[in-house]
Amino acid sequence: MSQKNIVLGVTGSIASYKAAELTSLLVKRGFSVHVVMTAAATSFIAPLTFQTLSGNPVHVDMFSPPKDWNVEHIGLAQMADLLLIAPATANFIGKIAAGIADDLLSATVLATKAPVVIAPAMNVGMYENKIFQRNMKLLREYGYYFVEPEEGRLACGTAGKGRLADLEKIIKVVENLIFREQDLSGKKVLVTAGPTREPLDPVRFLSNYSSGKMGYALAEEARERGAEVILVSGPTGLSPPPGVKVDFVETAQEMFEAVLNYFPEVDVVVKAAAVADFRPKQVAPEKVKKRGSCMVIELEATPDILFHLGKQKNKQILVGFAAETENLLENAREKLREKNLDLLVANDLKQEGAGFQVDTNIATILYPDGGVLRLPKMTKKELARVIFDEVVKLIKLREKEGDR
Ligand code: CTP
Repeated sequence: MSQKNIVLGVTGSIASYKAAELTSLLVKRGFSVHVVMTAAATSFIAPLTFQTLSGNPVHVDMFSPPKDWNVEHIGLAQMADLLLIAPATANFIGKIAAGIADDLLSATVLATKAPVVIAPAMNVGMYENKIFQRNMKLLREYGYYFVEPEEGRLACGTAGKGRLADLEKIIKVVENLIFREQDLSGKKVLVTAGPTREPLDPVRFLSNYSSGKMGYALAEEARERGAEVILVSGPTGLSPPPGVKVDFVETAQEMFEAVLNYFPEVDVVVKAAAVADFRPKQVAPEKVKKRGSCMVIELEATPDILFHLGKQKNKQILVGFAAETENLLENAREKLREKNLDLLVANDLKQEGAGFQVDTNIATILYPDGGVLRLPKMTKKELARVIFDEVVKLIKLREKEGDR
């Protein structure tokens, strides 16, 4: 395996010294590490430390005499298999979000096509500041990866979120990105996630316990494997994965319209959303008053989105989910057939560690030919990986058949 180049950007923070340990750990894992420091970082730690630990020259000044024919920031931007900024200050993140490139590191970030991983470190007040949060959100949407800081005692004497993430955690993100096979590259994947809300009146709605965790994990997985991902999401409290286009919807009808709009252009659809099957027939224009001791709400069916897609599909691979509380296989098989799916992921909501809200799932994958793959309890991210492994197998099979 050829050695992978990591350009490590170090900005001026009290956590700058941790970047020395990070350099050493990355070198031990076999990476070639090329450190770029901001001028402020050199006030906290000497370039010589990084030079010694990485065995490579350390870059600080954009205008130092070139050592070879490359313009320095372009050279670094091109040679990077990944650019890691750790620690990244609020100031530096603000600069990238604004497109400012007034030093070697920010110019390298702007010029690179490699994945960029940012590990922020700062005071909790700065971290919680709306401007910083907006910058982080924007960069996430543009495809930058963040390793969020941890909670704990901060150098400024306060406690809270802002401490540079654990170095092993940062390295895990880096390794995951560098060594992930891009087997969904060139494919467009649509994922739906979360619950829908069906309004009753201006202050009430019908919904379900779906947290959106499974769908968000699927979107993140597809993105990491190189797909262009559209996430149509009902209301959740989750932050969208980096590099994923998100379309927020509320009702089943809105989800239906959004999904149908994207459907012709996508290769794969994974419908993890828990769509309400019924909605109040009448939505009261004003708050419904408490009168009498009981109330009857008339409901009407919402469109079954997946059923419509199953009827319309041509090239697309359709993956459905089935949430069951009894007769899992029987019910799931029926859904697979009725909705004309290519895969169905069934989970028994009654099993502990499966279904809504939790971080794990216990799933059974069903195939149209009657095949069944029973999976053990695993995290939703791991399940997302298994699901896309199966999707990739299907894509390859179809491409092979297409070649014949
Ligand atoms: N689904 C959908 N549109 C709906 C209802 C469900 O697209 N109006 C999709 C879900 O996203 C999921 C699959 O259909 O991928 C199965 O959802 P589930 O709630 O398990 O089943 P239903 O078809 O709603 O059937 P039932 O409620 O009778 O189990």
